[in-house]
Amino acid sequence: MYRNYILNQVDESLLGKEILLSGWVNRRRDHGSLIFIDLRDRYGFVQLVFDPNDFPVAHKLAETLRSEFVISITGTVRMRPDGNENLNLKSGKVELIVSELRILSKSKTTPFEIDSDKEVGEEIRLKYRYLDLRRERLKNNIILRHNVIKYIRDFMSSNNFLEIETPILIKGTPEGSREYMVPSRLYPGQFYVLPQSPQQLKQLLMVGGFDRYFQIARCFRDEDQRGDRQPEFTQLDMEFSFVNESDVLDLNEKLFFELLKEFKPDVNLVFPQAVRMTYSEAMNNYGSDKPDLRYDLKFADVTSLFSKSEFKVFSEVIAMDGFIKALKVPGVAGEFSRKVIDELTEVAKIYKAKGLAYLSFVNGEIVSPIAKFMSEAELNSLKVDLDLTENDMVFFAADKFDVACTALGQVRIAVAKKLNLANENDYAVCWVTDFPMFEYSEDFGEMQAAHHPFTSPRLDQLEILDTEPYKAISRAYDLVLNGNEIGGGSIRIHDQELQSKVFSILGISKEDAQIRFGHMLEAFEYGVPPHAGIAWGLDRLIMIFAGEPNIREVMAFPKDSKAKDLMLGAPTPMPKQNLDDLHISVLDSE
Ligand code: AMO
Ligand code: AMP
Repeated sequence: MYRNYILNQVDESLLGKEILLSGWVNRRRDHGSLIFIDLRDRYGFVQLVFDPNDFPVAHKLAETLRSEFVISITGTVRMRPDGNENLNLKSGKVELIVSELRILSKSKTTPFEIDSDKEVGEEIRLKYRYLDLRRERLKNNIILRHNVIKYIRDFMSSNNFLEIETPILIKGTPEGSREYMVPSRLYPGQFYVLPQSPQQLKQLLMVGGFDRYFQIARCFRDEDQRGDRQPEFTQLDMEFSFVNESDVLDLNEKLFFELLKEFKPDVNLVFPQAVRMTYSEAMNNYGSDKPDLRYDLKFADVTSLFSKSEFKVFSEVIAMDGFIKALKVPGVAGEFSRKVIDELTEVAKIYKAKGLAYLSFVNGEIVSPIAKFMSEAELNSLKVDLDLTENDMVFFAADKFDVACTALGQVRIAVAKKLNLANENDYAVCWVTDFPMFEYSEDFGEMQAAHHPFTSPRLDQLEILDTEPYKAISRAYDLVLNGNEIGGGSIRIHDQELQSKVFSILGISKEDAQIRFGHMLEAFEYGVPPHAGIAWGLDRLIMIFAGEPNIREVMAFPKDSKAKDLMLGAPTPMPKQNLDDLHISVLDSE
């Protein structure tokens, strides 16, 4: 036997008892002839004492102990001497006098200290992930992750959802990301594809009559990495039959607020319920489809105010049916130096704006490099319409709608960061609805489904699909928390004809649709319930709950920012024999 207690069970209630413990040497301290060891396991810490007068053999062996050795001991629980208690530990009032020590495994000096929260380079943390997992930060995140997922499973089950596993080796699905492929050995030149999400399978489960499905689903996407993206990540995936938007949104909102209550009971809810806004409102007012609503900074549209502008930048934009968006930032005229304005202009330019005009309101006057182009009437309207007060600044982006909004939206985020407007403890939740059906994808150089091609258009948009499809609005919705897209989903198309039409708008020919989605179109001929669903990015949610800056911190074994597994050393070249078996020859391994 290695242990009969775990470390958080050791306290005064065991006084005088002889017990068996196992764990890692967290730290060794020598005090005169006594040796103290902090023993550590997943649950806590216990102080061990080796006294040469009482147990010379154990003491002698303890002299060889180093950090991270794995040991098992027999010892007797006693009170620590007065003044030596550690009230931060559950076991802090007691210690064990060790009668027997067994070294189960030795350890080299670890590449970083386990027993410290000192910053360690991420590369080394990822290479030695199993050591990093011993440290408090990751350990707590992984435990939180377990608890959140368990809570979700219970919630879903008690709402009649069945957890059903869907396969990992599937066929390509057009959900907007590049896919990972797996070569087939049995069928030369043919490939399985790893799911970007279980989208088609969960819809087919609805056709199969399982009217409420969920899954803690692993998804694979070969996309550029960012802090909130990984090549494989986990969704809470769900699908319902016989529902409309409010059923899906209400249940998900209920789950979300219950999770908050359970795991973040002390946060300040900026709104008692999720705010609901359309995509067009979100873009118009905040320049983002995932607005951070912890701070206000709402845009004003000043296009019509400048309809007769003599400022060429504005007049040219208006002439081509563009927009002029204004962001008022109260009280910063004295604070925002030239350097800050230049930084904000750079932000706007990264998002394709041609510049960032601005003004300050000081001593009751508008001061601005472009004031000379403004008429008295325009200056007055600005004061009134934007309700300017002393020391306000206003930033302007003039461009096509998307560019003007997006660029100013990024300026809004940068301003909030500068002014520290987003309080860590504030939680602002919203639903963004009524997304466009289609968008232009630079990656693929063609029209794409904004959500995915199984998303239903709004019923009042069916005619527009025939005439101006790119203007059509969908029944998609996103759940947004503090500027992060936590989840996204939609009401689905359940009509074969409409589905075919959407494929054709996406430039997928009839033949191609048959080859790629014949199974969906065919299934739609056998009685399909109206259905809808959503998937949450669980890693993102847990990242926010844990107060972490990126999703790697809440995954046990993540890839690095270049999609590599530094611990396993993947990806790797394969021996020729393996490639031959798979009928693969590598043209260019650079
Ligand atoms: P979507 O593609 O919007 O929808 O994904 C749902 C949620 O998954 C999270 N997410 C990611 N998390 C980490 N790394 C990534 N690379 C990554 N990509 C996405 C986001 C996102 O909101 N099948 C549809 C859902 C549906 O319609 O039901 C889907 O996958 O938080
Ligand atoms: P310019 O006349 O190009 O020197 O620009 C004068 C000011 O207008 C500068 O502050 C620019 O950053 C700004 N500006 C230029 N183009 C735009 C634009 N499309 N939207 C908003 N401001 C702009």
